[in-house]
Amino acid sequence: MIIVKSNKGILKESKPAQGKSFKMIAKTMFGFEEILADELRALGAEDVQPINRAVSFTGTMDTLYKANYCCRTALSILKPFAEFEANNENELYDNVYAIKWEQILDVDCTFFFESAANSKIFTNSYYAALKTKDAIVDRFKRMFGKRPTVDTENADYKFNIHIYDNKVTLLMNSSGESLHKRGYRQGVGIAPINEVLAAGLIQLSGWKADSNFFDPMCGSGTILIEAAMYANNIPAQYYRKKFGFMKWKEFNVSEWKSVRERADRGIRDFEYEIWGSDIDLKVLEQAEKNLRFTKLHHDIMLFNESFENQEAPEGNCMIITNPPYGERIAIEDLNKLYSTIGDRFKSFGEGKTAWLITSDFRAMKNIGLRPSRKIQLYNGALECRFLKFELYDGSKKAKYQNNQ
Ligand SMILES: C[S@@+](CC[C@H](N)C(=O)[O-])C[C@H]1O[C@@H](n2cnc3c(N)ncnc32)[C@H](O)[C@@H]1O
Repeated sequence: MIIVKSNKGILKESKPAQGKSFKMIAKTMFGFEEILADELRALGAEDVQPINRAVSFTGTMDTLYKANYCCRTALSILKPFAEFEANNENELYDNVYAIKWEQILDVDCTFFFESAANSKIFTNSYYAALKTKDAIVDRFKRMFGKRPTVDTENADYKFNIHIYDNKVTLLMNSSGESLHKRGYRQGVGIAPINEVLAAGLIQLSGWKADSNFFDPMCGSGTILIEAAMYANNIPAQYYRKKFGFMKWKEFNVSEWKSVRERADRGIRDFEYEIWGSDIDLKVLEQAEKNLRFTKLHHDIMLFNESFENQEAPEGNCMIITNPPYGERIAIEDLNKLYSTIGDRFKSFGEGKTAWLITSDFRAMKNIGLRPSRKIQLYNGALECRFLKFELYDGSKKAKYQNNQ
């Protein structure tokens, strides 16, 4: 549905014809914009433009389904459906009230608005979302004597309101719950990495599923599962059942099924090995649960071993890991752990490339190897570095430069 402002300042709406192209926004994490843009281009999206923590693009409903199902680094796919100017809260209320919400929402549904504002007029984005909610509720009450309810946790319909100065955009969140919720997590470790972050690390590393893969501090196995899904070309949301667009009036089940079937036909075998290890048996049991649920337990080997003693798979291997950051560990132990990581990396030798993500810039120095790349990322609110180490033969130790 496209809603445009008429010259009288009242909103008009029109429904796009089947197969018609429209604009969308895919949200992602800082640092993954270019990767997500490439993912969207590969799916056939057009006018692909990386922006801050997001990518804008155009496509049809088919593209929207594909983006939700296949993009590994997208957090949500948003569909803008109304744009107007509001110079005060009454204009915001009136413009929202004028939208034919009864064509979008059922009276007995639940809904929720997320808001973001960069505006001198609307300094409190939460209040703008509240005003928007009031306008919708008042319209339903006037028309039907009943109203849909707000649910902050598990709403049937999720919307976003973006305000820039006096320009307001309303967007439908076609994903519903964040796309990092892949549907495969049965067990959690102490500090599981976000699935979208794990998928982004794998793609940033440049691994093309052309060698073995190893996470020596695998915890509940998120990086391993994302690596196996990538290597086997299993769609990112293969295990997820629910998406926001399934509640939409324009939802076309057969088109959605066709998107799934076409993507699932691309699943292929992976000829190399994927290994994970962790010192903590309890956390490995959680990884095992996740692997069994995904049926990837035949493809991934788990070892209950400390990093100090664990070998990497033979031959060429991509190593990606996220060690503890130090929230629950004494500083001297953390420094020792990072120094051991450096020693162990050195002993892995020729043909291996190692990447590590950490927010602990002090402990990081104890690795004692000079990273060949440093990429700024965020793990939630924590600023991190994703560090690359090229590993050579142990006999050529001169290649290592101590960076302390
Ligand atoms: C931040 S967590 C990794 C989380 C994991 N990526 C996930 O998604 O669940 C760090 C992991 O390192 C493990 N660990 C700590 N010291 C270790 C060591 N010396 N050898 C192997 N694993 C270790 C911890 O048991 C923990 O599971």
